[in-house]
Amino acid sequence: MARTYVVTGAASGIGQALATLLRRQGHRVIGVDVRSGDVVADLSTRRGREDAVDGVLDESGGRIDGVVANAGLALPVAQTVAVNYFGAVGFLDGLRPALAASSRAPRAVVTSSMATLMPVHPPLVEACLDGDEDRAMSIAADLEAMGPEVGALLYPSSKRALSRWVRRMAGRPQWAGAGIPLNAVGPGIVRTPMTAEMTATEEGRAGLASVVPMPLNGYLEAEQVASLLAWLVSEENTHVCGQTVYVDGGSDVVLRGDDVWSWHDTPVPVTTAHDTVTGQPASV
Ligand SMILES: NC(=O)c1ccc[n+]([C@@H]2O[C@H](COP(=O)([O-])OP(=O)(O)OC[C@H]3O[C@@H](n4cnc5c(N)ncnc54)[C@H](O)[C@@H]3O)[C@@H](O)[C@H]2O)c1
Repeated sequence: MARTYVVTGAASGIGQALATLLRRQGHRVIGVDVRSGDVVADLSTRRGREDAVDGVLDESGGRIDGVVANAGLALPVAQTVAVNYFGAVGFLDGLRPALAASSRAPRAVVTSSMATLMPVHPPLVEACLDGDEDRAMSIAADLEAMGPEVGALLYPSSKRALSRWVRRMAGRPQWAGAGIPLNAVGPGIVRTPMTAEMTATEEGRAGLASVVPMPLNGYLEAEQVASLLAWLVSEENTHVCGQTVYVDGGSDVVLRGDDVWSWHDTPVPVTTAHDTVTGQPASV
């Protein structure tokens, strides 16, 4: 059955590919972007987010089945935090009541990044998660003023905060409790206008390879990320909750290795046959 979806950043790259895919599947898509679309709004400002939410509610008549908060910037400037974190979270918060009103499998997903795995500026991440936009933007402005090398922390910090927000909120009454799966995707390098300059030269590609290893099939096309986003907001997704699903050609497994569960390890005093006689575990 045709669903009504909202996609931010729909004027370019991943958002454009997703809007095309969903329309081809027969769904209605309300595209939101600062450049052009059904709703033109600047998600980096509080006012712009309010306009975006109002515009979507007008266009949709107040019933929405899925929201994809995908718009983003990857520049070493403070505005990156305003769009990537506050733009996504504020927009989703604003549309959550309309999602909850849908009786047809409401879903939400954000476009995060494999950059969540890169070094971040922890005070900025905490200010974001505290919902303190003024403090976060003041820290972000300080980082920007220290030049592009330090400013490079802004993008991963915004995405780490976003993926943590998704995990923090997804299980709560207003999301899981209201029957709304909330998740993120974490792409590796995707061929879009955002990365065109970096991937155009040998030097740029070598620089990327040193921080974003992608042993499986190299760079992504926007359509490949769009397919995953489309599934996460589809009715088929009933139980994926609070995850950042890395679609990254392997950068997560290369960078984090095989044990992402060790936070849960507490020593349990057990002696098994493995320790004494057979070399095999006594039980599993
Ligand atoms: N391209 C990659 O390699 C890559 C990797 C990981 C994550 N991502 C994320 O994917 C998302 C989409 O990126 P893309 O690669 O398609 O880039 P893109 O530059 O092609 O598209 C981004 C879109 O967001 C819109 N946008 C930017 N600022 C906005 C604002 N203030 N208000 C409203 N719209 C705004 C732009 O106008 C543009 O249409 C971003 O969140 C990005 O961080 C991209």
